[in-house]
Amino acid sequence: MRELKERILKDGQALNEAVLKVDSFINHQVDPNLMENIGKTFADKFADDGVTKVVTIESSGIAPSVFTAKAMNVNLVILKKSTSKILEDNISQTEVASYTKGTEYQLTLNKKYINRNDRVLIIDDFLARGEAAQGAIRLIEAQGAEVVGVGILIEKAFQSGNKALRDKGYTVCSLARIKNLSDGHIEFLED
Ligand code: G4P
Repeated sequence: MRELKERILKDGQALNEAVLKVDSFINHQVDPNLMENIGKTFADKFADDGVTKVVTIESSGIAPSVFTAKAMNVNLVILKKSTSKILEDNISQTEVASYTKGTEYQLTLNKKYINRNDRVLIIDDFLARGEAAQGAIRLIEAQGAEVVGVGILIEKAFQSGNKALRDKGYTVCSLARIKNLSDGHIEFLED
């Protein structure tokens, strides 16, 4: 997606060879116009897949997912990284390890929000090793629902997430695929 790539080049910052900072328009401050266009782009790409729910993982996936769900006229389900006592009666959980942040968390779904008739589009901001996406897939499939695709804003194509998902048969749609972040320089893979 040209608009996203141009914005990454303009306002993104390669912190080191593995991490891209996009705090000024995605992770901390959010540009709603860009998010709306991202939502429309995903809605177009998955228009023929009979999507009934959009699913994301808190927190940075929420903004683009709201616009995607709005453009597809379906509800959004936000998977939680922590849970509260009031939710605990009807939840499904799976452990996810974050390589980038060096943390582990219990990804959590209230089971009443996904059922076996659902066709789910997963949206998230970054794809690195794909641990979060695979955790989301485990929770969705445990409900008997089908994952029709994974939409990613920024894929770090030098990490293994895309291959891991594709090897398992999932469709991955990344709007910006980063080839290299060395020397403070941001280089994209060709479309
Ligand atoms: P994976 O799911 O693909 O394996 O990714 P990983 O665990 O390595 O990433 C964990 C967290 O780090 C995610 O945020 C992800 O968005 C973020 N992340 C990964 N690579 C980058 C990067 O290059 N730049 C930035 N800015 N973030 C990156 P999270 O823990 O879900 O936090 P949140 O921001 O969504 O709350």
